[in-house]
Amino acid sequence: MRGTPNSEYDFKMIFRQLFDQVSSTYSYLLASRPGGEALIIDPVLEKVDRYLHLVHELDLKLVKAVDTHLHADHITGLGALRDHTHCITVMGEQTKADVVSMRLSDGDKLTIEGLTFDAIYTPGHTDDSYCFVLPDRVFTGDTLLIRGTGRTDFQNGDARQQYDSIFNRLLKLPDSTLVYPAHDYKGDTVSTIGEERAFNPRLQVKSIDEYVELMSNLKLPNPKMMDIAVPANIRIGLAQEKIALRGWAMTASGAIALVGKPDVALIDLRERSERERHGTIPGSLHVPYPSLQENISEGGMLSELAKATGKRLLFYCAFGERSAMAVQAAQDAGLFTACHIEGGIDAWKRVGGPLTR
Ligand SMILES: [Fe+2]
Repeated sequence: MRGTPNSEYDFKMIFRQLFDQVSSTYSYLLASRPGGEALIIDPVLEKVDRYLHLVHELDLKLVKAVDTHLHADHITGLGALRDHTHCITVMGEQTKADVVSMRLSDGDKLTIEGLTFDAIYTPGHTDDSYCFVLPDRVFTGDTLLIRGTGRTDFQNGDARQQYDSIFNRLLKLPDSTLVYPAHDYKGDTVSTIGEERAFNPRLQVKSIDEYVELMSNLKLPNPKMMDIAVPANIRIGLAQEKIALRGWAMTASGAIALVGKPDVALIDLRERSERERHGTIPGSLHVPYPSLQENISEGGMLSELAKATGKRLLFYCAFGERSAMAVQAAQDAGLFTACHIEGGIDAWKRVGGPLTR
């Protein structure tokens, strides 16, 4: 077993494979223990009530909702789950979806309490496809299916890239690695890397050119939901618009003037890995988004800070999504001067705001 955070996970891990019959989508709910943090992969909008019910029954706290890629065959549950649970929404950095509050790159770790997934960029089915790896299993999205592979003929799909993603990334995992795909149309639920290498008909090719040829001759009809799902999944609506209308937002260029001012407390909501990669605004406090609620509640650190010093709380994150939710939560908790930097560090960098590493 690799790495410490996953140690013993097989004794206690909660793992649920959930199915949407309409789109034949598998969604996966994982947590390291009852009562702990949970993550869901590829949730379907119509099933959100069922997920929330299950999360409640298992006494879990949903902290992250992840899509392996921008889906063309169903509407994602990411936006609805964010609205209900204030969870962080996660996709790869290449995605065009606006709902995403945390974007991963190849080699990043996707973490919740007690579980660490390796994020691997596996373009081919789409140009924003990722797979998520635990020591004994991999969530393959539509990159690798059971006895199949995801089509490569739309959404910037590319059979050449997919060959590379499958043969040079996924098939390099140990043969015993369990394969959990985003779809199955035949009723299969799980496979292994070794089994797919041996028996997946699409993988019995001798060269990349043979694979490209095979994929270009599939002649599949477009998915029934495509014209609805793709535009809907690109635009799930930003929490930021609502916050700006209430006057609780500040532009990145406006916020530059506030760095170092004694009456403002800059609060970075991102995770440590994001801070290390992109840098932080000088003088900011680090309060990761999942620990926000305890900090803004009566007696919490940020609540005390705001009351004792009269400082204005200025939240920021990667793209402004988590900070918009934080402003709403702080306002709800009675911290009426709370606001955030619209567009987050991404916007901050574009206007040349100072960063420390
Ligand atoms: Fe797909």
